[in-house]
Amino acid sequence: MYEYIVHEDLMPTGLEGISDDQIQDHWGLYKGYVAQCNILHKELEEMRHAGKGGTPAYADRRRRFGFEYAGMTLHEYYFGNLKAGTELKGGTHFCRAVTAEFGSKKDWLEDFSNTGKTRGIGWAICYLDPATGQINNHFVQLHEDGNIPGFVPLLVMDVFEHAYMVDHKALGRPKYIEAFLRNVNWDIVEKRYSEAIHGKEFHRFAA
Ligand SMILES: [Fe+2]
Repeated sequence: MYEYIVHEDLMPTGLEGISDDQIQDHWGLYKGYVAQCNILHKELEEMRHAGKGGTPAYADRRRRFGFEYAGMTLHEYYFGNLKAGTELKGGTHFCRAVTAEFGSKKDWLEDFSNTGKTRGIGWAICYLDPATGQINNHFVQLHEDGNIPGFVPLLVMDVFEHAYMVDHKALGRPKYIEAFLRNVNWDIVEKRYSEAIHGKEFHRFAA
């Protein structure tokens, strides 16, 4: 049976304005999603073998599996796109794409930032539709309400309170978003974009 693992190499450290304590706290939640995926994966198989695959209890566990699975993968994209010290350069393919869609890098950044300020808990995600080449910013509620099948996540920002409560209080989301945007690994964003438009599948962690 496949086993989901915690990808330690994705853990960012030394960010500017997002403390290592904050990341450690958040990392613990990511580990919880990985653990829950393993538990549910096993439980679903056991229930099928016991002839319970068509029961309401199984359907409930399967729904929960989607929640936990999306929580796990979104955290892998999130931690994987955090790194201090890179900048969004004007000549990159990604920057040219957001400029084409939004008019300028600044306008795209403002829209992404506002996406993260959507009331409710969830994620701001800059997605590419590989079928059309169009880029857009989306808000995903919880982990699973608003993800669009086939779209490629280019930049993923967690805006649950747990992403910033160690460093800021409940009203600190705007400050956290500013800090997040100072710590984006723009090289990874460019790689995700470039691979997707060339028909290559981006792997969110090293195999
Ligand atoms: Fe989170």
